[in-house]
Amino acid sequence: MATVRLVAGKGGVGKTTVASALALHAAGRGERVLLVSTDPTGALGQIFPGVGDEVREVAPGLEVVELTRRAVLARWRERFGEEVYRVLRSLLPVERDVLDYLEGVPGLEEEFLLSYLLDALDSGRYDRVVWDAAPTAGTLALLEAQALFYDHLTQAHRLYLKLQGYLKGADPTPLIEGWRALTGRILAMLRERTRAWVVAQPERLPVVQGLELMAALDRFGIALERAVLNRVLPEDACPGCAFYEAKAREQRRWARRWREESPVPVRELPEFAAAPLEPRALEAVARRLVAEPEGDPRA
Ligand SMILES: Nc1ncnc2c1ncn2[C@@H]1O[C@H](COP(=O)(O)OP(=O)(O)OP(=O)(O)O)[C@@H](O)[C@H]1O
Ligand SMILES: [Mg+2]
Repeated sequence: MATVRLVAGKGGVGKTTVASALALHAAGRGERVLLVSTDPTGALGQIFPGVGDEVREVAPGLEVVELTRRAVLARWRERFGEEVYRVLRSLLPVERDVLDYLEGVPGLEEEFLLSYLLDALDSGRYDRVVWDAAPTAGTLALLEAQALFYDHLTQAHRLYLKLQGYLKGADPTPLIEGWRALTGRILAMLRERTRAWVVAQPERLPVVQGLELMAALDRFGIALERAVLNRVLPEDACPGCAFYEAKAREQRRWARRWREESPVPVRELPEFAAAPLEPRALEAVARRLVAEPEGDPRA
């Protein structure tokens, strides 16, 4: 069964780099892969020039898409817009532009971002979806919105059943039920078919936030797969340089905390002299990420 690999972490720690490397690597091994970015400030285009909100094949077996708010809400309109409008119009004197207002409903955009992933999984086109997520707060908001949305829809339906006798209009039951079923399937995808990789750099904030994120994902029921420690300064790159040594010492402190407190195996990446943007550099990144060191009992 196709699965989702979620790559998450604080802003700028290397999520897009890790997600792209993992996606290229999986495609190189013969898997059919979709790499999706749901980060509104994502920079997948730096690695795969020309990528946008239309799915595009960038290497054999690898398709990439950068989901934008506009594309996601267009999908919402296509799927539910007409029905929502029909139900509302039968109850209230509204015009079609009510849909423009509804697009701002909290959780709606997140819902359709995730439904995009679900459709990709269920399409049978892919063996794996790699999901380059928004920085920590965005990822958590997205997940929490799902659970809230599910509750809201359940309550909306109960409320409607109570008011049914007073309301004259189209029955919203199929709409609410259809929507709730979709949210339920999204939650199941997250809890049963998603594995998270959380990335941090050996610095205070990325480590603290990354550990919090892992705890939150776990509470939400998303399985953790790996923790990544990115941009580790090479030992002895500059013997005798006081600043470099102080920096490396500080890194070691946060690296230790990351290794000690991560509930899953940690994979490390060094600080590279040049940003790893080319396929060859990303393949080298991937090899380090998927290596299973001998004797690591948790690997
Ligand atoms: N190990 C590394 N060595 C050198 N440069 C790196 C390394 N990892 C990532 N970079 C560079 O750091 C920058 C940020 O990385 P990346 O875009 O992958 O982070 P991100 O977590 O996706 O950021 P954002 O939160 O903005 O989406 C990029 O220019 C990337 O090429
Ligand atoms: Mg990114």
